[in-house]
Amino acid sequence: SDTIINKEGKERVAAKIAEKVKDGDVLGVGSGSTVFMALFAIAKRIKAENLNIKAIPTSVEISMALTNLGIPMTSLYEHRPDWLFDGADEVDPNRSLIKGRGGAMFKEKLLISSSPVNYIIVDDSKLVDKLGSKFPVPIEVFPQALLHVEGELKKLGTRELILRPAKGKDGPVITENGNLVVDAWFDSISTDMELRIKSITGVIESGLFINYNVEILMA
Ligand code: A5P
Repeated sequence: SDTIINKEGKERVAAKIAEKVKDGDVLGVGSGSTVFMALFAIAKRIKAENLNIKAIPTSVEISMALTNLGIPMTSLYEHRPDWLFDGADEVDPNRSLIKGRGGAMFKEKLLISSSPVNYIIVDDSKLVDKLGSKFPVPIEVFPQALLHVEGELKKLGTRELILRPAKGKDGPVITENGNLVVDAWFDSISTDMELRIKSITGVIESGLFINYNVEILMA
C-alpha cells in the first residue's frame, strides 16, 4: 500500500540523515513523524559509534523522544545548531514551505534561522504547485490579541479562519509558549505574505517559510 511505500522511503531518507552526523555535532531537531524516524536512525549510529552529539529540540514530544533515545540535549542559550533536520506540510517549487501542523512552528523557525544548513524531509504527498492548496497557514497568536489579529488577517484576504481546537481538553490549543493557533486559509499566498502576517501586532510567528535556506530530501 501507499503507506508502506511511504514508510520505506522515509526510512531510506532517515538513514541518509543519520549518515550526515559527525562526532561533536550540535543537531537541530524539528518536530513531526518524519523527524521521529530520522531520530531513531541517528540514535542507532550514536550508540554504535559512541558519538558525542548534542541535540536542540523544538517541542516537548521531541524532548521526550531524545530522552528516551539517550541523546543529550542542549538549548539555544548555549549553542547554535551545526545543521538541522525537519519535516514540512507543504513544499512549493521554490522550496518555500508551510509548517506547523503540530503547532511547533515558532521554535522550528527560530531554529532554522539559527542554523547554517537545513534538511527538510518530505514525501511527494507534500509537494504542491501553490502554497496553501492543501493546508492552511498556522499562525501563533498572543491570546488577548486574537480579535485584532483576526481582523487584520481578513484585510490580508484570508478565506477562512479557524481557531485550532484542542484534543483531549476543552477549548482551543494552547501552544508550548502559552498562545493560541489560528489556521488561516488563503486563495493565494504572495511572497510578501510571511512578512505581512508577522507585522500584525500580537502575531508571534506563522508557519509560512518563504525562501529559506533549505535542502529538500525526498522520501
Ligand atoms: C510540526 O509543527 C510541523 O511543522 C511538522 O514539521 C510538519 O507538520 C511535518 O510533520 P510530519 O513529518 O508528521 O508530516
